[in-house]
Amino acid sequence: MTSSEVISTTTGQRRLEGKVAIITGGASGIGECTAKLFVHHGAKVVVADIQDDLGRALCANVLGSTNSLYVHCDVTDESQVQAAVAAAVETFGKLDIMMNNAGIADPSKPRIIDNDKQDFDRVLSVNITGVFLGIKHAAQAMIPVKTGSILSTASVASYIGGSASHAYTCSKHAVVGLTKNAAVELGQFGIRVNCLSPYVLATPLATEFVDLDGAEFEKYASSRANLKGVTLKAEDVANAALFLASDESRYVSGHNLFVDGGFSIVNPNIQIFQYPQ
Ligand SMILES: NC(=O)c1ccc[n+]([C@@H]2O[C@H](COP(=O)([O-])OP(=O)(O)OC[C@H]3O[C@@H](n4cnc5c(N)ncnc54)[C@H](O)[C@@H]3O)[C@@H](O)[C@H]2O)c1
Repeated sequence: MTSSEVISTTTGQRRLEGKVAIITGGASGIGECTAKLFVHHGAKVVVADIQDDLGRALCANVLGSTNSLYVHCDVTDESQVQAAVAAAVETFGKLDIMMNNAGIADPSKPRIIDNDKQDFDRVLSVNITGVFLGIKHAAQAMIPVKTGSILSTASVASYIGGSASHAYTCSKHAVVGLTKNAAVELGQFGIRVNCLSPYVLATPLATEFVDLDGAEFEKYASSRANLKGVTLKAEDVANAALFLASDESRYVSGHNLFVDGGFSIVNPNIQIFQYPQ
């Protein structure tokens, strides 16, 4: 692709025209919003999730049956991840974009001595093993055609400590490690591997974790945010995913893109820029 072709895709209306994507955890929250945006930009999308009713309804009523397909896929089960990739290739002919977005949090228990091993293992299984399997089986489909974009949803907890549970924090750090390692291995095949690290936003995962409703959650999140006057929404994360998925980011690989308004770069305890109120 020439530079002028890249510029024309950037300015065009449909930035994923002709592309095929899988989005795990695509039935709700960030994944659902990204699925809508990807279809809006011309992609065919496979929504892979375990919430079958939600996923089926999204594909049938919102995305449309010619543009999307729902597959039941527990990302911790290798055969189901493999089957989701096969379904994308069988139905839409190929796989260009894999978004490993499915994720869970464990119950909020601030003291490590109260944390249960089963909860720890469960979070690692979805948030790390699920991403590993997604990268592995996407690579299988992408290596022969020597192109592809793999992205995973990490979190600000991929970089800073103390913003989430031990299990969640270490799982998101691991997503960055997997992203870097896979980017190094798969670069030789023209496959880019990146991740996204959002600040907190009101989705079922987050609001259930702190037991607040959407409005209360956003008020709390905004009070702790670095960037004021804007509330992070799923659309903001979806827009960043669109950039990483599209050819506009054709030379971006191994990157952790923060969508956090600068939250992760500031230590509020050492701040010289606070204006007198
Ligand atoms: N909401 C936030 O504040 C926030 C911030 C940073 C990162 N994230 C990350 O964003 C991603 C999406 O989460 P969300 O906030 O949209 O929450 P969500 O709960 O709305 O969506 C998560 C989706 O993952 C699916 N899922 C869970 N376990 C699965 C499994 N084993 N196999 C397949 N699908 C499974 C769920 O059914 C759900 O549809 C997660 O990786 C999460 O860690 C969320």
